[in-house]
Amino acid sequence: MHIALLLVTLSAASAAPNSWSLVPSFNSFFKEQGDNVVSWYNDAANMKDSVENYVEEQQRMFKDKFNDYVDDIQENGRHLVDSTYSSRESSLLDNPDIILSVPGIITRNGYICETHTVISQGYVLNMHRIPRSRSHSDVSPKTVLLQHGLFASSADWIMNGPGKGLAYVLADAGYDVWMTNIRGNRYSKDHVWYKTNSQEYWDFSWHEVALYDVPAVIDYIMEIKGTDTKISYIGHSMGTTILFAMLTLRPEYNNILTAGFALAPVVYLSDMKSPLKSMAPIASNLAYIDSLQGTYEFIPKNSALGQISSTCSGENMDSLICKNIVFYLCGFNERQFNKTLLPVFLSHLGTGTSWKTAVHFSQEILSGKFAQFDYGYWKNWRVYGTQSPPDYDLSKVTLPIKLFWSKNDLLSSEKDVQALYDKLPVKPDMFLVPDEKFNHLDYLWAIDAPRLLNNEILSSLEAHMPDYSFTVRF
Ligand SMILES: *[C@@H]1O[C@H](CO)[C@@H](O)[C@H](O)[C@H]1NC(C)=O
Repeated sequence: MHIALLLVTLSAASAAPNSWSLVPSFNSFFKEQGDNVVSWYNDAANMKDSVENYVEEQQRMFKDKFNDYVDDIQENGRHLVDSTYSSRESSLLDNPDIILSVPGIITRNGYICETHTVISQGYVLNMHRIPRSRSHSDVSPKTVLLQHGLFASSADWIMNGPGKGLAYVLADAGYDVWMTNIRGNRYSKDHVWYKTNSQEYWDFSWHEVALYDVPAVIDYIMEIKGTDTKISYIGHSMGTTILFAMLTLRPEYNNILTAGFALAPVVYLSDMKSPLKSMAPIASNLAYIDSLQGTYEFIPKNSALGQISSTCSGENMDSLICKNIVFYLCGFNERQFNKTLLPVFLSHLGTGTSWKTAVHFSQEILSGKFAQFDYGYWKNWRVYGTQSPPDYDLSKVTLPIKLFWSKNDLLSSEKDVQALYDKLPVKPDMFLVPDEKFNHLDYLWAIDAPRLLNNEILSSLEAHMPDYSFTVRF
């Protein structure tokens, strides 16, 4: 910016008739610029202070709000789930799924689990595949790709156990099930040339996942199974963001895929009800501060939001609050929540992501747009050739889509789902989960998942599989 200013000033000065008078004005110009630089640094320090104060204040408000939430629950005669087992040892004995990895859990349940590796832009992506049910001996051509959400992994689809977890249910119904793990999560952490603590490694959001990684995964599956293999895509939360971004950035996948199922769609976010919304302005401001400190992974302990969550780790009375933070942020549904499985859920949730992902979502919340990453005026010109980032052009989405939504989803609100519906050129099917209290994470762990969700997914999948209607069901 200073350089541009300098050029403008120089050309104005050289046009001046008395060119000898340039010398003193040059001196004062540079002195002024020098002063500007000094004050810019001071401003940056002030900004750092004010942002930190802001975070502290938000943190206090956040706790107050949460206390209100706890009071409210108790006044209404309901109970908070105390998500901590009194002894970690005993809970480990109760359920080894707490410490097992995804392939371990799947295998323990008697299914085959294969791990497949695809390298995309140097990121080593590990997928988990359940190729068939426990009783089938052949692999079906009917293929489903499951894409998890934010802070999550392939564990999303199996945590609820056989009979309920969608991956098992699909395998039992004769599908070949592939579960991705996005770059940066615990199963896809390696990179061929970047160190995982480098800025370059974490310089991505779901945009790059949609543009490079998921297409690479789909291509890989077709390489293994044949190019005429039809693959249906099921995404949860950010997994839906990735689907829609991919279908606009790589429109050829509208023809390659068979159908797309969006569970708890996260595309427009301006009507988000979660308290996370109040974090959006902080998250986007703090990106700058954190990048100064060399922190690029989101929710590592020394990041600003990591500090917020670490205030939860003391033995003070806050611990009950903090352990329930997931429900506070995502909506609570006591009836559908299996308390016995909570240690399993908690041990598999919360794998890291990039700051850029968090900031990108914050931008969606604030702008109300479904657009590429906003780098700010100057860098946008350099990256996109325009002053603001381009929207993802949803008019390119021609794949048959079904949107699954629910009334108590604090992250995917009715209004925002409706906005997505309105933007799609081919009107998608809609399914309102028939439970008033169904929340954002019930898609992964609802006790009544078969009745509320899975049966609908199965029949919708079948409806989109005409090519395979003659396939013998082993
Ligand atoms: C909760 O999960 C446990 C462990 O998988 C299971 O045994 C139990 O039946 C589940 N409870 C309900 C109500 O589904």
